[in-house]
Amino acid sequence: MDVIAIDGPAGSGKSTVARTLAAELGLDYLDTGAMYRAVAFAVLRRGMDPADEADVAALVPELQIDVSDDAVVVDGVDASIEIRGPEVTRAVSVVAANAAVREELRRRQREWARARGGGVIEGRDIGTVVFPDARLKAYLTARLEVRAARRHREVSEMEYETVAADMARRDSVDSERAVDPLRMAPDAVVVDTSDRTVEEIVAELRAAL
Ligand code: DC
Repeated sequence: MDVIAIDGPAGSGKSTVARTLAAELGLDYLDTGAMYRAVAFAVLRRGMDPADEADVAALVPELQIDVSDDAVVVDGVDASIEIRGPEVTRAVSVVAANAAVREELRRRQREWARARGGGVIEGRDIGTVVFPDARLKAYLTARLEVRAARRHREVSEMEYETVAADMARRDSVDSERAVDPLRMAPDAVVVDTSDRTVEEIVAELRAAL
């Protein structure tokens, strides 16, 4: 299996780099963050409490989540826009800290890769937990103000300060949770994307293949 794992915090440039790399190499691309967001979307839609571990754990195995390049469909409902909205963004860290959710999504991610013979997969625990034998592990990072500015450009209806504060809070939840926290694989290629172009970063990763 030919897996390229791209991990890093929010706004580090993972999606842009992973999509570009996948297109250049002719590989499929999977955004695992969209899968966690899809679960958070389903939880909120049912009026459930994202922090109720047992309830959320019982829901996930039945959920139909379809993450493709241009849409995220949850139980037949197109959730592409809502999964990027503030409600889902606030709830997703709590849902992603649920061990049963992680176990089920990890299983689906491995199934996705097996069916395609690999792909470019982005997330938080791809090189450390889901595919520790990946052909290439990249860890992207950037200064908080750069990451917040990138996200602010995507969600312009929110204040920059709110975006930055939400991002700092989510970073700490993702890094400090007990199960599969965000961390660097010891053999990852680490790239600070703050002051570099997408082309430079993609070229560096291709050279490391
Ligand atoms: O990359 P993103 O912002 O769309 O990720 C959404 C949330 O899901 C984020 O809070 C971290 C979590 N996540 C995770 O725990 N493991 C992954 N492999 C991908 C995302």
